[in-house]
Amino acid sequence: MLEGVIRKIAGPAVIAKGMHGARMFDIVKVGKEGLLGEIIRLDGDTAFVQVYEDTSGLRVGEPVVSLEMPLSVELGPGMLNAIYDGIQRPLDKIKEVAGEFITRGLFVPALDREKKWAWTPAKKPGDQVTGGDVLGTVPEFQFTHKILVPPGVTGKIKEIKPEGEYTVEEVVAVLEDGTELKMYHTWPVRKARPIQKKLDPDEPFLTGMRILDVLFPLAMGGTAAIPGPFGSGKTVTQQSLAKWSNADIVVYIGCGERGNEMTDVLVEFPELVDPKTGGPLMHRTVLIANTSNMPVAAREASIYVGVTIAEYFRDQGYAVALMADSTSRWAEALREISSRLEEMPAEEGYPPYLAARLAAFYERAGRTISLAEEPGAVTIVGAVSPPGGDMSEPVTQSTLRIVGAFWRLDASLAYRRHFPAINWNGSYSLFTPILDPWYKSHVAEDYPEKRDAIGELLQREASLQEVVQLVGPDALQDAERLIIEVGRLIREGFLQQNAFDPVDAYCSLKKAYGMMTMILEFYKAAEAAIQAGTPIEEIIGLPVIEKIARARYVPEDEFPAYLEEVLKEIDQALKATA
Ligand SMILES: Nc1ncnc2c1ncn2[C@@H]1O[C@H](COP(=O)(O)OP(=O)(O)OP(=O)(O)O)[C@@H](O)[C@H]1O
Ligand SMILES: [Mg+2]
Repeated sequence: MLEGVIRKIAGPAVIAKGMHGARMFDIVKVGKEGLLGEIIRLDGDTAFVQVYEDTSGLRVGEPVVSLEMPLSVELGPGMLNAIYDGIQRPLDKIKEVAGEFITRGLFVPALDREKKWAWTPAKKPGDQVTGGDVLGTVPEFQFTHKILVPPGVTGKIKEIKPEGEYTVEEVVAVLEDGTELKMYHTWPVRKARPIQKKLDPDEPFLTGMRILDVLFPLAMGGTAAIPGPFGSGKTVTQQSLAKWSNADIVVYIGCGERGNEMTDVLVEFPELVDPKTGGPLMHRTVLIANTSNMPVAAREASIYVGVTIAEYFRDQGYAVALMADSTSRWAEALREISSRLEEMPAEEGYPPYLAARLAAFYERAGRTISLAEEPGAVTIVGAVSPPGGDMSEPVTQSTLRIVGAFWRLDASLAYRRHFPAINWNGSYSLFTPILDPWYKSHVAEDYPEKRDAIGELLQREASLQEVVQLVGPDALQDAERLIIEVGRLIREGFLQQNAFDPVDAYCSLKKAYGMMTMILEFYKAAEAAIQAGTPIEEIIGLPVIEKIARARYVPEDEFPAYLEEVLKEIDQALKATA
């Protein structure tokens, strides 16, 4: 047995001597109570341990025993609809056993050991199987949960259970070499699950939010960050993505700082309705909630726990959306543990490996082909809450260098109730050019041109607004005042989107394209009319403008007719003035 003794205790961190042969990231039992911890640094026979449970009462001299295996999660049926803490302990079960406050040294398995699942084998005796192959299936809510052969296992099937009801602990298959396979397996959280290959990010992760899908798109399997100050809409945006995006499964990691922030997630999330089924969104969600009564170390681990679960569903052939809200709280946990271990701090007290750890998380996103040739994807969207909204701080800056899309939320837009409060000047996406062929073939050949024209009008409006600020509106010519008017139309009628409106909450790309067509056709016709001598006042008063602005509230099925009507009206109204 690999055992050392505690030399020092500093909050969630413990330093142990005499840990000969211990390995990085192995888990340990700390003290007489056997608190769960993880070795996060080794220096000779000294192990630096982050402890996932409250360390009060722990004493120097108590034992630290290595379990000689890394922190792992259980992967199998029963994760959907579950609410876990940062190290995959089911919150409801823990409460049953321990009450509101999580007692220490408590072992509660992540997957229910009693529940029976309706198993259907997909293989038969004599079949050769290898890691990633589907051994059998069980239904789980609206999904077919594929029971996978764990990566690294290969062999010929000797026995396999017939169709029937089994628990996750029952052996469902035995290989010729005696390996026993169950409906679940474990996987170390800090190690990416193996894949056959990564695919180019050339398909979109569609969100149903116009400003994102059109101006700052995210690719399926890509990464995005939502930095934003307090109350600017990070959580609403992520919940909207959880509901409406084209992902099958959602893994939502809540890292709240204040107690009530997490209570919000625990109360709100289970009430969200899945627009795809009408049932609870939780039926396709794995919720990880870092409650405030859990030590910071569990919060540090939670994002790796989450991404490992996401990869497991990806390997079954699903598109998974992983949301982390917020990664700043995660980074603060990292900082606290690092400082307790008296590591040399870098910028603003964060450890020098902050960027590397963040990258290790985001790098696990991707659109992939699994070991068993299944296409799947993990798309990661992380919220960042820079203190005081100062984007130059280390977490925002490190994130910025890693992610492919950056959706910057703006306090002043939120204050003006322009929602989503995404600043179109401060946001970007590196995926746009890679996705253009997809848009051309799936939406319209001229989709990229229309999108660029919209972006350009916004820019022209912004610089004209500066002129107005300096010298007043009278300095503008009619053609310029038209751009201001069209800019307003784009901002209010296209970029703004109410997440709580039943129609406006979701917009298809086809509808977004139609809305862009209306705006651009109006602009073109109005510009021609102005050139022909029509005064701008007459154009601004046209009722068709209001119709364009209201298009976002027109249901998808009525939209094609509405579009046609508006285009006709633009034509008639502006020809009449010209
Ligand atoms: N897309 C939207 N449509 C309508 N209202 C919105 C939208 N986004 C945000 N809001 C409004 O802004 C409020 C604050 O949003 P949210 O809680 O998401 O902010 P946050 O950035 O997560 O804040 P915190 O920093 O406290 O976590 C919401 O309660 C809602 O009223
Ligand atoms: Mg929030």
